[in-house]
Amino acid sequence: MRSLADDLAGDVVRRYRIEHDQAVDMVVESFGRSRALVTAVAAADSVEQVKRLRVYRDAATTAKKEIYHHLRRYRPAESSASDAVDRLVALPVSSDERAAAVRAVVANHVSTAERLGELDGFFSQLFDHIGRPDTIVDVGCGVLPLVFPLDDPPVGQLWAVDTDPEAIRAVSAYARGDERVHPVRWDLTEDWPALHARGLPNRVDVALVLKVLPVVARRAPQALDVLARTPADLVVFSGSRTAMAKRQDIERRETGVLRRFLAEHGFTEVGEFRTADEVCLVARPVG
Ligand SMILES: C[S@@+](CC[C@H](N)C(=O)[O-])C[C@H]1O[C@@H](n2cnc3c(N)ncnc32)[C@H](O)[C@@H]1O
Repeated sequence: MRSLADDLAGDVVRRYRIEHDQAVDMVVESFGRSRALVTAVAAADSVEQVKRLRVYRDAATTAKKEIYHHLRRYRPAESSASDAVDRLVALPVSSDERAAAVRAVVANHVSTAERLGELDGFFSQLFDHIGRPDTIVDVGCGVLPLVFPLDDPPVGQLWAVDTDPEAIRAVSAYARGDERVHPVRWDLTEDWPALHARGLPNRVDVALVLKVLPVVARRAPQALDVLARTPADLVVFSGSRTAMAKRQDIERRETGVLRRFLAEHGFTEVGEFRTADEVCLVARPVG
């Protein structure tokens, strides 16, 4: 079974962003769930013989689909991501283990994990473009607020809003005792008044919409209108440069989605920067 999985894993690794050993483990697990394949493997003389069977082709298709869907999740291993948040929740703010717990949460969320290699470069380019904002709203924040620098330059308020309860649980645990950070579970479809009712100022200096707009355009296009009315003087929109699951350059596609949105909603693009995994457009809303 392992050599059969090893063979398919070679294919998977060429197409998807996954290491060979992890791919083999996942294929073995998936194959193991097909009783028909397990029986066929036991009866066969060689890997090549099994590969000619219909039952193998079906099991291979299922395994590839499962890997693809696994890679497309923001939090790759739901249980280990939740465990990491549990640990952060349980630790006192003063604990020596807090930094490691924060790192574990951040490493378990794909969007922030992708940035970890060049986090300083990302933030230094970001602040070059946004200056010294006092109030920021991070729309669809994920767990980025856990690594967001608030001291230099000093940020007065960071509103961290997301529809994902786990993200907000993580930010809330991180922000205990820090009055600058305001985590709120909120969905774009609730619209801005619901957030103003929770205390978001009528207008903020900067809104961050990082790796969010292309997701919303695909999954809930009706909510794009809400993003178009983001109550901020400056908005930073970003998209990914490489696909979450497939080994594929998606910068042109993502930039296309962002620029079409800016044009349709009257934003003026005033800046652009990129890191290895992300392309960011800085824009001023109409008026
Ligand atoms: C790709 S992640 C990016 C996370 C974070 N902005 C970052 O760059 O690290 C997309 C985030 O958008 C959030 N999101 C998606 N649809 C949303 C919606 N309708 N309202 C609020 N948040 C949403 C998801 O829960 C997820 O945390």
